[in-house]
Amino acid sequence: MKLHIDLEHETVELETPEGTRSLALASEEAFQLISRAWLRAGWDLKHVYTFSWLGRPIIQLPEDLIRLQEWIYQVKPDVIIEIGIAHGGSLVFSAGLCRLIGRGRVIGIDIEIRPHNRLAIEAHELADLITMIEGDSIAGGIVRQVRQLIHPGERVMVFLDGCHTRDHVLAELEAYGPLVAEGSYIIAMDGIMQDLAGAPRSEPDWNTNNPRQAAMDFVKLHSEFRLVEPPFAFNESELTTRITYWPGGVIQRVAPAAEA
Ligand SMILES: C[S@@+](CC[C@H](N)C(=O)[O-])C[C@H]1O[C@@H](n2cnc3c(N)ncnc32)[C@H](O)[C@@H]1O
Repeated sequence: MKLHIDLEHETVELETPEGTRSLALASEEAFQLISRAWLRAGWDLKHVYTFSWLGRPIIQLPEDLIRLQEWIYQVKPDVIIEIGIAHGGSLVFSAGLCRLIGRGRVIGIDIEIRPHNRLAIEAHELADLITMIEGDSIAGGIVRQVRQLIHPGERVMVFLDGCHTRDHVLAELEAYGPLVAEGSYIIAMDGIMQDLAGAPRSEPDWNTNNPRQAAMDFVKLHSEFRLVEPPFAFNESELTTRITYWPGGVIQRVAPAAEA
């Protein structure tokens, strides 16, 4: 696929094996195509490795964080489970929102919590809202530890940002999905991998081996969950589609228990 952006005429030419189409620059389709090219260039350049949140590096696209904030504010969870701590920026992001809302705490899990990251997170102003567990997110003992930290009736939300293979994410969805409250979400992050096969920092199997595929497979197996696109909390534009690293990754619990 080739995109030719003509700023003089405010058009975008889309060239595919099926032919060439001209789109208005200010159309949602052109905006999506340009955004996808921008996301791909940003992936190669490590754009998301240039941000921090309240002093801790956070490896997320800023627009995704704004959406996450909208969903957290909507759900007002008692517990946010986050797989993938890295430097702790996303734990601090969620914990900060919990503090502002006056409700909720965060449990972070990582297969390796580097000592300097642990020390910095433990010394952070929001540390009292953060519990860290070190281990493989799908190991039985780790899942049990997380479950023990959640009290009956607590409203749980889950973010999966650890190992992004299809099988691992599916196993995480199976392990942590049952904890998620009705109306709340599990976010399977980095489904953009599906669109990045062939990019320099990608693997050849990413078109199928990715979190988006895991999310699709999970909802097929569990009718109490659905893939959703939460409507924008505010929208005075014609746009309806998120610019995101997490396409197809928002899973909502829509029923209390699995149907027989
Ligand atoms: C992309 S980073 C997380 C970034 C972080 N959520 C943020 O927004 O800043 C992915 C993390 O997942 C962790 N990880 C990889 N495989 C894992 C596994 N099997 N279980 C738990 N954590 C894992 C890695 O050690 C790494 O710190």
